[in-house]
Amino acid sequence: MEGTLTARDKVGVQDFVLLDAHTSESAFMDNLRKRFSENLIYTYIGTLLVSVNPYQELGIYTMRQMELYQGVNFFELPPHVYAIADNAYRMMCSELNNHFILISGESGAGKTEASKKILQYFAVTCPMTESLQIARDRLLLSNPVLEAFGNARTPRNDNSSRFGKYMDIQFDFQGVPVGGHIISYLIEKSRVVHQNQGERNFHIFYQLLAGSEADHLAYLGLERDPQLYKYLSQDHCAKESSVNDKNDWKTVSDAFSVIDFTEADLQNLFGIIASVLHLGNIRFQEDDQGCATIPDTHEIKWIAKLLRVYPSVLLEALTHRKIETKTEEVVCPLTLELSVYARDAMAKAVYGRTFTWLVNKINSSLVNKDFTQKTVIGLLDIYGFEVFDKNGFEQFCINYCNEKLQQLLIERTLKAEQAEYETEGIEWEPIQYFNNKIICDLVEERHKGIISILDEECIRPGPATDLSFLEKLEEKVGKHAHFQTRKLAGPKGQKRIGWMEFRLFHYAGEVTYCTKGFLEKNNDLLYRHLKEALCGCQNSILRECFLAAELENHRRPPTVGTQFKNSLSSLLEILISKEPSYIRCIKPNDRKEPSEFDDFLVRHQIKYLGLMEHLRVRRAGFAYQRKYEHFLQRYKSLCPDTWPHWPGPPGEGVERLIKYIGYKPEEYKLGKTKIFIRFPRTLFATEDAFEFSKHQLVSRIQATYKGCLERREYLKKREAATRLEAHWRGALARKEVRRRKWAVQIIRKFINGFINRHQPLSPNNEEFLVFVRKNYILNLRYHIPKNVLDKSWLQPPGILENASDLLRKMCTRNLVRKYCCGVTAEWTAMMQQKVVASEIFRGKKEGYAESLNQPFVNTRIDEGDINPKVLQLMDSEKIQYSVPVIKYDRKGFKPRQRQLILTQKAAYVVELAKIKQKIEYSALKGVSTSSLSDGILVIHVSPENKKKKGDAILLCEHVFEVVTKLAMLVKKENLVNVVQGSLQFYITPGKEGTIVFDTGPEEQIYKDKNGQLTVMPSFSWLAAWPRLQNFRSQI
Ligand SMILES: Nc1ncnc2c1ncn2[C@@H]1O[C@H](COP(=O)(O)OP(=O)(O)OP(=O)(O)O)[C@@H](O)[C@H]1O
Ligand SMILES: [Mg+2]
Repeated sequence: MEGTLTARDKVGVQDFVLLDAHTSESAFMDNLRKRFSENLIYTYIGTLLVSVNPYQELGIYTMRQMELYQGVNFFELPPHVYAIADNAYRMMCSELNNHFILISGESGAGKTEASKKILQYFAVTCPMTESLQIARDRLLLSNPVLEAFGNARTPRNDNSSRFGKYMDIQFDFQGVPVGGHIISYLIEKSRVVHQNQGERNFHIFYQLLAGSEADHLAYLGLERDPQLYKYLSQDHCAKESSVNDKNDWKTVSDAFSVIDFTEADLQNLFGIIASVLHLGNIRFQEDDQGCATIPDTHEIKWIAKLLRVYPSVLLEALTHRKIETKTEEVVCPLTLELSVYARDAMAKAVYGRTFTWLVNKINSSLVNKDFTQKTVIGLLDIYGFEVFDKNGFEQFCINYCNEKLQQLLIERTLKAEQAEYETEGIEWEPIQYFNNKIICDLVEERHKGIISILDEECIRPGPATDLSFLEKLEEKVGKHAHFQTRKLAGPKGQKRIGWMEFRLFHYAGEVTYCTKGFLEKNNDLLYRHLKEALCGCQNSILRECFLAAELENHRRPPTVGTQFKNSLSSLLEILISKEPSYIRCIKPNDRKEPSEFDDFLVRHQIKYLGLMEHLRVRRAGFAYQRKYEHFLQRYKSLCPDTWPHWPGPPGEGVERLIKYIGYKPEEYKLGKTKIFIRFPRTLFATEDAFEFSKHQLVSRIQATYKGCLERREYLKKREAATRLEAHWRGALARKEVRRRKWAVQIIRKFINGFINRHQPLSPNNEEFLVFVRKNYILNLRYHIPKNVLDKSWLQPPGILENASDLLRKMCTRNLVRKYCCGVTAEWTAMMQQKVVASEIFRGKKEGYAESLNQPFVNTRIDEGDINPKVLQLMDSEKIQYSVPVIKYDRKGFKPRQRQLILTQKAAYVVELAKIKQKIEYSALKGVSTSSLSDGILVIHVSPENKKKKGDAILLCEHVFEVVTKLAMLVKKENLVNVVQGSLQFYITPGKEGTIVFDTGPEEQIYKDKNGQLTVMPSFSWLAAWPRLQNFRSQI
């Protein structure tokens, strides 16, 4: 990423590891100076950040800068405090472990500023939910409040932290800052009552006076001018321009409202602050007995009002002392000096405990009430190493603290790293460094260390003084290489050490401490009388700070030195359990001047901060090391062999993995339990590949999860559908059951009705009978006879027989009526003929029954088909009927085609235009037909008339019709004779012939050998008819 920042940051090297002359301190200095002159205040040594205080606003902490560093690989951008913060944050999020950022450097080097920048970075860049904004604001705003109460101006720093601060920022699993916790260390209480030349008291006093409303000041009994207060008017220096108390007051007041401080809390808090100022203004006088008195109780009254205690109690507590013997309590007056001591002790105690209360109060507002697991990033901003002209107990503690932190750094980096290479079996050339453990031991060792000696001196019976303490030191640690006193120093060094002083050779340089006040500050005793008075205060903050139980406890509380030692060791425990990041702050000059680079001062800091050693270790070492299990766990998705599980030992898995992703041999080393990666770029490339594969994994997990959700949804729907279906089926089944029940009832009723159908009408059969009736009637309509001849009728049930008969008759009558209405005159005539035919043929001639349904017609030959000559010959006799016939000769029985025409008087056998035979009805003797189904009819004429021809033998298709018509025209009774077997006819008058009727297999009419005409119809005359037709066509 070659942004503007990167482009600009080309001065020197961004990482000291890249220095060619990495062992040269001058090269190191040159690089730092070169960059500083270009306002590039940050430089790396590997992952450690070296920061030089610019003493000016550089515009490198903008929102844009924050966004730039967010989520970017550590070495991709120029060094920045944001890169350190982002790196720690990302490691915490990805590995779910705890981190701390240790910011060290001497007073005024920029530690507090760096910690504030980190906090702001988290506040701006971390994901945030609306509900958690308050937590974020509180984290941010706790800073100005604590700074107001715990920071002060010193010659080295206008905003010097006079207490140590360790702040845990808690993050939830999504990386959202959700809460925090602050631990404070040893506030410099002595500053409340005394400040050295050029120093100020804690900021809050000045802020209250400068910024508070006039009403508020009046309520507290204060004036705006700080010079009116003894505790504030010792600095004898002009107001510093860099400190704007009025503005800061506004910031602090606003912050109070965010971090849960109630009106009452603030009232009590500022009551205490004001009463400290009033305390400082109490003047004591000596009376005749040398006892202290307070002539002007003006201040006492204000304090009593603000702390809510009786003025008399307070007055007595400040001027008297209660001595407890085994049997009684004796109250004795204090000397002027002791009263001043008591007053100052009270001011220090009140301020010190109020500060602790304040930290606890802030903590309760920062606490996150959700107890799910959190990861933390700790920020340690603790007072820097300091050397003043006069150094007291406080400087001793502060510098001891810095020694301990240096120890931690040595343990965690220089020593630990080298030891690591050794145990892992990595080739390594040990690097020499100064281990300050020897100094730490000098201070803290049990029974032998300076703190133990001081404690011993504090509790020892007999007159113990600061001087006797110094003597004890000379006696016990006098031989230590890092300790010196005036007595122990040679003649050369004597001049520089006072009689009351001792000198320690710290890792950061030598510091001479004045033992004056060591015992008193270490004891930090408050007269019992005063303690009682404070326990009786009604100011609610003081009530929490001074508990009555304290009075009952007669055991000596641990000394300040021991307390501090213990709190430091627990701080180190906290830090050791976390992953470290380091920021080493350097102060470029003592005058707080921008762009001034004091070589001597900076070189000194480089030396004592151990930066050269750190650089050498980094240069020779590896940028990154990781346990095989962790490395494999993180990157296993990059190799198909190791994903999702590597079954073998993790070391082999890592080997397989790095082979797959193509690490070159010079890029890494494999130790016994860890992999060591030499260059950051190798790790970044791996990390980038992991980021890429993570997206794929995420989409797979997402897909599976979505699938799971969908399936769950589907199962839910299926379950719902099944239930619905079951209900619906149930409903249907119930409906069916009802239907069947109903059906069963109906059937039962039906059967019951059927059984009782012949019984008289009763409820048992009533419905059945109705049904039967209805059913019969409804059915009957489909079975009504179609015509009069149709005799079928639907069989009625027993109960309907009468009705059925009636209906049947009605129906028949109706049909008859309909039939009769349809009968015409012509039809009637035909029917009359049929009746005559019936009389003649019924039961006598075969084929009659079959012929019944063939209606008779008026004529079978149209008049147009009869030759006009014939008509002429017939002498206009009206033709009643005519039909084509076959006439057989009487002798030879030759068949000839003729027309038979019947008139009113005679029958004519016609051949075309000739009338072949005329048979007058008067001469007609009879007509014979056979009983078989043939069509032969013989018209017998009277034999007497010799002129006449003999009988006419005719074959006619419509024999029944012809005979009937003829009979009706002749009007003679018994005219027609149906014969069986044979018949006689007259060939000529007196000469007879015979026609024999017989049945045979084949239709035949022939002259047999006897000279008789044999007529052999088939079994059925009608069936034979087509053959007859055929026969006719042959002739
Ligand atoms: N990054 C920075 N940019 C601009 N000014 C800075 C920066 N760091 C420090 N300063 C200036 O230096 C002053 C001192 O810094 P700071 O208070 O952080 O020192 P410190 O190391 O905390 O000292 P102490 O140990 O006394 O508390 C600040 O008030 C500020 O004016
Ligand atoms: Mg500070």
